[in-house]
Amino acid sequence: MHVFITGANRGLGLELTRQYLERGDHVFAASRQPDQAAELQQLQRQYGEHLVLLPLDVTSAASIDAAVQGVRQAADSLDVLINNAGVYPHAGSGDDHQRLGQLTHDDAIETMQVNAIGPLLVSQALLPLLRAGRKGRIISISSGQGSLTWKATGDPYHYSASKAALNMYMRSLAAEVGHMGLISVIVDPGWMRTEMGGDHANQDPADSARGIVRLADQLHAEENGSFVTWQGQPVPW
Ligand SMILES: NC(=O)c1ccc[n+]([C@@H]2O[C@H](COP(=O)([O-])OP(=O)(O)OC[C@H]3O[C@@H](n4cnc5c(N)ncnc54)[C@H](OP(=O)(O)O)[C@@H]3O)[C@@H](O)[C@H]2O)c1
Repeated sequence: MHVFITGANRGLGLELTRQYLERGDHVFAASRQPDQAAELQQLQRQYGEHLVLLPLDVTSAASIDAAVQGVRQAADSLDVLINNAGVYPHAGSGDDHQRLGQLTHDDAIETMQVNAIGPLLVSQALLPLLRAGRKGRIISISSGQGSLTWKATGDPYHYSASKAALNMYMRSLAAEVGHMGLISVIVDPGWMRTEMGGDHANQDPADSARGIVRLADQLHAEENGSFVTWQGQPVPW
């Protein structure tokens, strides 16, 4: 199987990369600066041609085009795309940047570009390769923070809005790609101990990754367009 993962250099993306490689799959691990991604380079020494490191900034059209060409040089198709890259501006800084009175245009735009628009355009660009795959699946990593039903606080404004926008983009995409035999789902990975989630988070990203790999393996057409947890439970929109 050929898997493409964005934001593969740390956190959940790195765990997903490691677990797919351990199973013997081929991984295209995309990150902004592969030459500085020590863990990915170590995995490449271990897994050789099963791992292709590609530069990708999901906010850049030129970077997305180059990544697609990078895949084409090594494979004719993709089976799984994991839209994992994401930002939470000022994560862990303990400041109030996503509270009323502190909101900025720049934080809003960055969050929307990376978390919502980037995944949509990456998916669009990789669609021909996914259609050529055996059972193309698009897994977009969202968050319970993107649930309108669960929203009970102001903070974090930008992050929540960006994940709700991601959900709508991917639900729209699902309506189209379902007719092509592809499956697109939106996944809440839980609160994980990563740079974004912080040290107090209750979950090991390896557990989330394990659940997401299992989920991706077992997807059926009727699940296309759904919003679920890493354990496959429905999340309210
Ligand atoms: N951690 C949690 O508790 C939690 C909860 C719910 C949902 N999520 C979601 O889970 C996903 C993974 O989060 P994580 O916890 O693993 O976060 P993380 O450790 O902060 O990693 C984020 C990844 O996204 C990459 N990234 C940021 N901006 C990018 C861009 N413009 N282009 C390409 N890559 C970019 C980062 O690359 P650089 O190293 O280059 O910055 C990094 O690889 C995200 O979508 C996040 O929103 C996380």
